[in-house]
Amino acid sequence: MEAANISSTSEIRIPSDPMLQIIGQEEAVRIGRMVGSQRRNLLLVGPPGTGKSMLAQAIASTLPKPKQEVLILHNPEKPERPIVQVKTTSAKKNEKKPQGELLDPTMVPAYISEKLGFRCRRCARLSSPDASSCYFCGADKYKKMRGPFEDLLIGAGAPEREERVHTTRVREGKEELVVFERRGDRIALLTQKELMKMAEMQQKMQFKVLLSLNRPTFVQATGASETELLGDVRHDPYGSHPAIGSLPYTRVVPGAVHEAHEGVLFVDELSSLGKLQRFILTAMQEKQYPISGRNQSSTGSSVRVDSVPSDFILVAAVNINDMQLILPPLRSRILGNGYELLMNTHMTDNEENRAKLVQFLAQEIVRDGRIPHADAGAIEQMINYARKKAKEIDGVGGLTLRLRTLSGTIKMAGDIAASNGRLSITAEDVKFAVLNSKSVEEQATEKYGSWYKASLADYGMKKEKGGTEVG
Ligand SMILES: Nc1ncnc2c1ncn2[C@@H]1O[C@H](COP(=O)(O)OP(=O)(O)OP(=O)(O)O)[C@@H](O)[C@H]1O
Ligand SMILES: [Mg+2]
Repeated sequence: MEAANISSTSEIRIPSDPMLQIIGQEEAVRIGRMVGSQRRNLLLVGPPGTGKSMLAQAIASTLPKPKQEVLILHNPEKPERPIVQVKTTSAKKNEKKPQGELLDPTMVPAYISEKLGFRCRRCARLSSPDASSCYFCGADKYKKMRGPFEDLLIGAGAPEREERVHTTRVREGKEELVVFERRGDRIALLTQKELMKMAEMQQKMQFKVLLSLNRPTFVQATGASETELLGDVRHDPYGSHPAIGSLPYTRVVPGAVHEAHEGVLFVDELSSLGKLQRFILTAMQEKQYPISGRNQSSTGSSVRVDSVPSDFILVAAVNINDMQLILPPLRSRILGNGYELLMNTHMTDNEENRAKLVQFLAQEIVRDGRIPHADAGAIEQMINYARKKAKEIDGVGGLTLRLRTLSGTIKMAGDIAASNGRLSITAEDVKFAVLNSKSVEEQATEKYGSWYKASLADYGMKKEKGGTEVG
């Protein structure tokens, strides 16, 4: 689509794939996809606002869901050495549950088979609980039959199918609790004895889920402290008293290197981590990292969990000037199993790229959610602004890819349009925003002539200087 033919950003179809939302960084996207599918590492170098964080997130979105659940088990022989257990999804499915007596749906009371989704409430015939409507009469099996007044009493449309039904039965003159549980196309009857055994089993198995299966595949290590990066064992003031203290395994906390297991660990400003880079290197090499209490004065410091998995894809971002602050073995490790990539700062000013810029504007507007779409005039002004910025910052002809700046401008223009009750952003709104979206440095230069003079003014230096001159 040609940018010139578009009359509003509302006409743009925004791709749902986060990778395709990244514009002007074709090489980065190509490599990013490979990094995800081949599980390599990636070092992104480039100025602010060019899409480094965006790419890291897009890579994470291409990864499959985690398959390993990581548990921390109580170690009865040595509580301060809890044990790690890694469970794969397939193993989890085969976990043993107390069997109970397996019954055919025809053998249980009618109200039980109704609640479990087998029996139709209208025609009373039985069908698979996976089908939401009756195979025979078409009635909705999950909704209660509506009497004349029931609409007032029951939330309309709420599904009524249940996993299990608790009830009582009388055996040998005594009333006892029983549970009917849906198991595929059969029903399990669990007696009081079996229910007690289940509760006992749960109590005996003392564990905590450290990394759940539904964890995100994107983990960002921000300004990382050692504990944030590598985990910790929390302090318990009563730790040495077995009767009132909490068991060590309950106090184990994962670090970012663990949370990113099977996903992406994104480290923004890698150089600012300083010496912590060494730990990342170790975790990457070993694909596991022990968790121990990091505060020497804490009761947690005597606790250690070995072999906690940390098999992540490292995506790190760095400013070009800080390259030399990257730990050399870490950099060579990334290169040895991955890529280094310099982000583009601008793109050629042609029809295709102008259309991409319009896609970007549409994305920003939709993502913001509080501003109206941009009309043709506003689009043209934004393209001009992208040209101006490429010239101003990079001294080149083209369209800038320092897109955070542009994102700020279109949002400001959108705010002006919205506050004036307009249904779209116009050229005037963009012009106003461009004039007013100046950085503090630019504003100061305008007000005081230079940034240096402005900083003197800020500290009251001008006045003092004036004073000495008079004196
Ligand atoms: N290539 C791009 N395509 C589309 N949108 C972009 C692109 N680059 C930046 N943006 C927009 O600018 C915002 C900031 O980008 P992002 O956070 O990815 O930049 P960054 O390179 O990580 O910057 P920093 O170095 O400051 O962390 C994004 O949320 C997005 O709205
Ligand atoms: Mg970033």
